[in-house]
Amino acid sequence: MTNGDITVLMDETRVFKPSGDFVKNTNVQQWMNKHNIKTLAELYEKTKNWEWYWEEMAKELVEWYKPYEKLVEWSPPWVKWFLGAQYNIVHDALDKHVKTWKKDKLAFIFEGEPGEVRKITYMELYQEVNKLANALKKLGVKRGDRVGIYMPMVPELPIAMLACAKIGAIHSVVFSGFSAYAVRDRVNDCEAKVIFTCDSFYRRGKKVPLKIQADEALKNAPSVKHAIVYQRTGDPVDMQEGRDIWWHELVKDMSEECETERLDANDPLFFLYTSGTTGKPKGIIHAHGGYAVGTATTLKWVFDVKDDDIYWCAADIGWITGHSFIVYAPLILGATSVMYEGAPDFPGPDRWWEIIEKYKVSILYTSPTSVRLFMKQGEEWPKKHDLSSLRLLGSVGEPINPEAWIWYYKNIGNECCQIMDTWWQTETGHFVISPLPVTPLKPGSATFPLPGMNAAIFNEQGVAVHNAGGNLVLTHPWPGMLRGIYKNPQRYEETYWSRFKDIYLAGDVARTDSDGYFWIQGRADDVLNVSGHRIGNSEVESALVSHHKVAEAAVIGKPHSLKGESITAYVVLKKDVEPTDELKKILREHVGVEMGKLARPDEIYFVSDVPKTRSGKIMRRVIRARAMGREVGDISTLANPEAVDQITKAT
Ligand code: WT7
Repeated sequence: MTNGDITVLMDETRVFKPSGDFVKNTNVQQWMNKHNIKTLAELYEKTKNWEWYWEEMAKELVEWYKPYEKLVEWSPPWVKWFLGAQYNIVHDALDKHVKTWKKDKLAFIFEGEPGEVRKITYMELYQEVNKLANALKKLGVKRGDRVGIYMPMVPELPIAMLACAKIGAIHSVVFSGFSAYAVRDRVNDCEAKVIFTCDSFYRRGKKVPLKIQADEALKNAPSVKHAIVYQRTGDPVDMQEGRDIWWHELVKDMSEECETERLDANDPLFFLYTSGTTGKPKGIIHAHGGYAVGTATTLKWVFDVKDDDIYWCAADIGWITGHSFIVYAPLILGATSVMYEGAPDFPGPDRWWEIIEKYKVSILYTSPTSVRLFMKQGEEWPKKHDLSSLRLLGSVGEPINPEAWIWYYKNIGNECCQIMDTWWQTETGHFVISPLPVTPLKPGSATFPLPGMNAAIFNEQGVAVHNAGGNLVLTHPWPGMLRGIYKNPQRYEETYWSRFKDIYLAGDVARTDSDGYFWIQGRADDVLNVSGHRIGNSEVESALVSHHKVAEAAVIGKPHSLKGESITAYVVLKKDVEPTDELKKILREHVGVEMGKLARPDEIYFVSDVPKTRSGKIMRRVIRARAMGREVGDISTLANPEAVDQITKAT
């Protein structure tokens, strides 16, 4: 079956509906009742009036110091939201809660990798943020200044972000797994005045010496006047006289009150660098007002967060997922979040399941790569624990293979938790295409654009196609939309807006099916071209993973004189499975049955791991380079650089 530009070979027909009882109590259903909306179809119809919808959401979820005069100003490709409003996201995240019963509610339950627990109430968080904000002011940090944050998953990371936001400084968080080189690049690009770091932190039972990396980065970062060092482990570190300051000494005598700076709703809140698959990282800009409304709305609706939930987004705050859905949106909603420092499989493969049982986590949000890791370890690990507190699951980062979806649904969700497969990007700020908890699900589909959002599939000519594949685009602005790329407006216009006039190009290929469900097939530069058919790499990977002996697969195309490209697959087998030539044949035929002969891999190699980014995306570009015997460039930002050698050895 050829659908427009992308050939669709896998057809997933299973549908999973939420129970009536569950639906009745959801935030979205209650909102529908209030607005006398009877069906999901009617909800989508009514919210096509996106301006109306976002005004309604803003009314419900945020408090302005001074109300806005105009909802949105769209002069493509530039957007402003809530024009004229005075605002600061920290007011909604903290200040408003400490005036209510929520002051004593837990904002974070933190568990360090070695096992210590810190429970932090909204009031405590508010006070810690205020002390640090006062300290930053004392160091001369002002509205509009940039602050780099290079910290691991400890509560001081969100505290540092909120302290910056409170005084109108712009934070730029750099993932703690990144090397000195990556930190230096980002800190220099945004000319940070101050950076935050720590002595070291725990990862898989070892201590990672972060300060040493930070020192290396700062050797060549002339804008940085101070490094504020949080003491996480107590390891000895070199402190540079005049530059480095201990966090605990800095805040010692600071007041627990600090007035929140009244900003313009369109003032930048943070920059976050995203590398995409190629090129120099882009400093994506997000602004206070729109980002607050967009993230809080989508979290409330998609994950159905309520006052008694224990919510756990198991991402790292160094990524947009953590910015939006560990820090800002949950705090705006006044939720209680679990935050965990370390590795998922330390000390044993059931660390996560232990955490869920211990804190009675009710909502879990993670990535397909984690799910595949758990699949590989086997279902006996979650079985050891009582996971019955869970009521909703989530997935983000890449298309979730239907087999991984089903495994997650059965073994973690006990067949009673719907899975929210949320498609979005650093650039979008919040969920864009995602089920609501009331949506009938098809495993592997992110379902439909959320209310107030509009996505479409455009063919190469820029014509919207249905029940067909092509370029994923967004057709009108949304509140959390990026405001540009720092210091590079031209790249902003070229990357997102030059392909189709006034239409946002997401850079992904996707299709819709005959019911209008969206199926994301991957990045546009990750599409195979076999005998004139464009096939998503991730679809072939899913077909491989659907075999019961396979845990994970990475698929690349190699130039082929006849076919255009031939398909090569690197396959990670489940525990205790023999890697035999016979199995290669079986897998090849299995893909043939699942997708058609066309998609059968020409070569299959068994490896114990495939190269991935720190956010869990399979690095097909790197695999391809290695497989073709080319240089792979800098791989220090990979989660598992050693997996690259496996590719070389295998090929
Ligand atoms: C890219 C954005 C958004 C937070 C994490 C990644 C891929 C993301 C899904 C999903 C299929 C997905 C896309 C997108 N992606 N979520 N549910 N299904 N693909 O943020 O690093 O900016 O990456 O991740 O390719 O464009 P990011």
